[in-house]
Amino acid sequence: MELPDLPLVMALAQRVPAAPHWPDSVWRQMVEKTGPSRCILVAAGEQQVFGFCVVAYGVDEAELESIVIDPAMQRRGLGRRLLQAAMQASWQSGAKRILLEVRASNQPAQHLYAQAGFLPTGRRSGYYTDPKEDAICMECRLDAETVAGNPAR
Ligand SMILES: CC(C)(COP(=O)(O)OP(=O)(O)OC[C@H]1O[C@@H](n2cnc3c(N)ncnc32)[C@H](O)[C@@H]1OP(=O)(O)O)[C@@H](O)C(=O)NCCC(=O)NCCS
Repeated sequence: MELPDLPLVMALAQRVPAAPHWPDSVWRQMVEKTGPSRCILVAAGEQQVFGFCVVAYGVDEAELESIVIDPAMQRRGLGRRLLQAAMQASWQSGAKRILLEVRASNQPAQHLYAQAGFLPTGRRSGYYTDPKEDAICMECRLDAETVAGNPAR
């Protein structure tokens, strides 16, 4: 993602209820400070953004903070490709695993993650607000197989 993508990414985030609703200043800061600690990827066409994904890097591990595909473009494989790209970028940055939380009711996202090799590792009671809901914690070990899209089964 580059700075010119930002208005389109923020507009997409506003249209999707499950997207993060960070203030403009937070988005801007994240884009300007991507580098060793964070990676933002977009699925983009010419002057169009179909989806985005935000990953934060820690020591040895990465956290998938968000992945969103434009509702008009869902179920065409873009989410899978974006997630794969995020896993590859995380692995290349030195992460050995990638973690995430997802709303317990968000079955599409849980299916996407499971298909990519994520396994549930726990549940956080009342983690989300508006509406209040538990989070399912998921994790995927990063290795040559999983980042190539061939999760161990
Ligand atoms: C979750 C999301 C990113 C998936 O993106 P997508 O581009 O539609 O997903 P893909 O077309 O790449 O599908 C990949 C897999 O995800 C799962 N999946 C996607 N949409 C699904 C749905 N509506 N129901 C069940 N499974 C679904 C399936 O396992 C699918 O594989 P399949 O096509 O072989 O069945 C998209 O639905 C989205 O943006 N949702 C709103 C935001 C969100 O909830 N993000 C996650 C939390 S931040």
